[in-house]
Formats: sequence, C-alpha cells, structure tokens
Amino acid sequence: MSAVSTIDAIYRLLLKRYLFGRDAEYAHRTMLRMLAAMPAFPAPRDKPELGVKLWGIDFPNPIGLAAGMDKDAVAVHGWETLGFGFAELGTITPRPQPGNEKPRIWRVPDRRALINRLGFPSEGMEAVAPRIEQIRKAGISIPLALNFGPNKDTPPEGIAGDYIALIERLGPLADFIVINVSSPNTPGLRNWESPEKMSELFAAVSEHTSESARARPVLLKISPDLERNDLFRICETALALNLEGIVACNTTVVREAVGVSSPHPGGLSGQPILIRTRELIRDIYTHTRGQIPIIGVGGIASAEDAWLDIRAGASLVELYTGLVYEGPGLIARIKSGLVDLLRRDGFRSISEAVGIDR
Ligand SMILES: Cc1cc2nc3c(=O)[nH]c(=O)nc-3n(C[C@H](O)[C@H](O)[C@H](O)COP(=O)(O)O)c2cc1C
Repeated sequence: MSAVSTIDAIYRLLLKRYLFGRDAEYAHRTMLRMLAAMPAFPAPRDKPELGVKLWGIDFPNPIGLAAGMDKDAVAVHGWETLGFGFAELGTITPRPQPGNEKPRIWRVPDRRALINRLGFPSEGMEAVAPRIEQIRKAGISIPLALNFGPNKDTPPEGIAGDYIALIERLGPLADFIVINVSSPNTPGLRNWESPEKMSELFAAVSEHTSESARARPVLLKISPDLERNDLFRICETALALNLEGIVACNTTVVREAVGVSSPHPGGLSGQPILIRTRELIRDIYTHTRGQIPIIGVGGIASAEDAWLDIRAGASLVELYTGLVYEGPGLIARIKSGLVDLLRRDGFRSISEAVGIDR
C-alpha cells in the first residue's frame, strides 16, 4: 500500500467522521496542519499520456489544487505528495487581513457542497514570499500558480494598486499568476469582471509593473454567475488583452437554480456547480475558438467529471470541494481513471481531447 493510499484509507475510515463532526473551518485547519507536518516525498511518476505542456510549462498531470485550500502556502509539498499536477496558492492579499467573522464555512453534505464567506483571510504577501522562496530553493516538481486579490479595506481607486503590488512582489516566484476578480465575498470585487474595468485594470498593471514581474502567464478567474452576453464580452476582452488563460470558475451566489436551499450566505461550491462550470468552459472554448487556455474548476469529484470538462474545452482542471468529500486518494483515482478514459475514447494525450465536445 502506498503512503497516499494509507492516508486515504485513514481519512475515509476514521478522520472524515471525526472532522465532519466539527466546524468546517476547524476541520480544514486540522487537515492543513497534518499535511504540512508530513515529510515531503514526491508522488510516483505520472503516466506520460497525462502530461500537459502549456505556456512552455510542463504539468505532470492536468489535475490541480484550486485556490482557497492553501491560501498562505503552508503545505505546498503536501500537494505534490498527494499527486496534484500543479497547485494554485492563495488568494493572497497585499497586507495581512483576518477575513470575515466566524463561522464562515458550512457543509451541505447531501449535495456534496460547501458554502463559504471567508472574505480572503490572508497572512499577506510578505509572509507568503519567503515560504515560496524556500520551496523554490528546496525544489518542487509541480508548477505553482499564485492567486491574487485585493485587501477588503482598499478603496475602489486603489484596487489596481493592490494587484500591481502583488505582481511586483510575488510574480517572479510564480509559474503563473491568477487574477481573482470573482470572489463573491469581497464587496465590489466582481465589478472588475466588466470588460471596461478589466481593460482599465490590465492597462494599469502593464504600465506599473516591471517586465520581469509580469513575465509569467497571467490568467483571469471568473464567476459562474455571469450572463452569457457578459461572458462573451469578457472572452473578447481577454483575447484583446492577450491574457494567457481563464480560470472558470469561482463559487456561485445562486441557490434555487442549482437546487440548494441553505440559509448561509456566501459562495457555493462542489457538485451543484459541476454542470454550470462545464457550460461555461464550453462557451468560452467555442467563443474564443480555443485560443485561450481554460482551467476548469467546479464540482469535480471523479475521473469522468474531469474528463468531460477537458472534452468541453479545459486544458487543465482543478478541485477543492471534491477533495473534502472524497479524501486525499481522489487525485490518484482521477489520474488512473483518466488514463482509462483516454484509451477508451481513443486519445493518446490529454491535449488531443481538449474541446472535442464543443
Ligand atoms: C472554503 C473555500 C475557500 C475558497 N477560497 C478561494 C480563494 O481564496 N480564492 C479563489 O480564487 N477561490 C477560492 N475558492 C473557490 C475555489 O477555488 C473553486 O473555484 C470553487 O470552490 C469551485 O471548485 P470546487 O467545486 O472543486 O470546490 C474557495 C472555495 C472554498 C470551498
């Protein structure tokens, strides 16, 4: 039995029962602490057909950790050990901030979903920078994305300045950068998804950051709550701005339309957003004629889920909520399932299948 399958068995038989009996944020912290304390060892080498090359970066497999799970980059080697093909760390804010008052994460177990209104608790970029520098020195076999967001108390006219500070300080430490303008828990943030505000933001970023800081691919993370016309306008703006990719998508504020009734405010993730995410991926892929790589994220909890997102147009996928419900062995299960699905459908690589169902 490999180390990860041992951890997985312990999680599913014992730990999950213990953790699910406690507050969701406490459970999250406990898992993160355990993972951070684990000795770093690389996961078994992935099958070559799972490898993806994008933006000149080699991904050993297309399954990434979604933002929010490791906001302060405290368990990075753990994600490598669990077999992720990359990890998106953050959201990181420029200055430290506590986030919203607790409780602020809730489970919806009958729908395998979570609701959170964390509001970007972050130790801030100066705490995260030395951790990533240390990881770079020690060496890591998977690409690292850094996800950036503004501080809650930054006024609207200072938002671009927050992103600029983050890109300048942390950009050189990232393999790629994700600009998060889609969290529902920071008031006013989603206004920056409008094409006008997006253009304004990226103009300011390219004017005020050094070339070396923004040399990394820059992606935009969008919300699932966009009207179709607005999504198309965002796609056109992303093409015009030469953005390297779109992460689709963040959590939703919708409840009834996805069959969830819950009194808790905030962003809903997990199984209820799986189909909406796939629609978004397909729409973006079709509208941009496959010219902008898409990272698909939302509700993935099996190889089939990941495969259908790839076939809809995602070059890479990520997950968060699925990991909470399915346990740390999920990554290995998705990867071996993907190898079978590739063979079943007659493809030799992941990249060959991207967008085939558009
Ligand atoms: C508790 C929690 C915290 C999150 N925090 C962030 C965050 O800080 N930044 C971000 O871009 N997305 C964040 N997300 C959204 C996830 O990255 C992802 O887009 C969303 O949960 C959909 O994927 P999933 O269904 O696999 O969880 C968070 C999600 C959850 C459940």
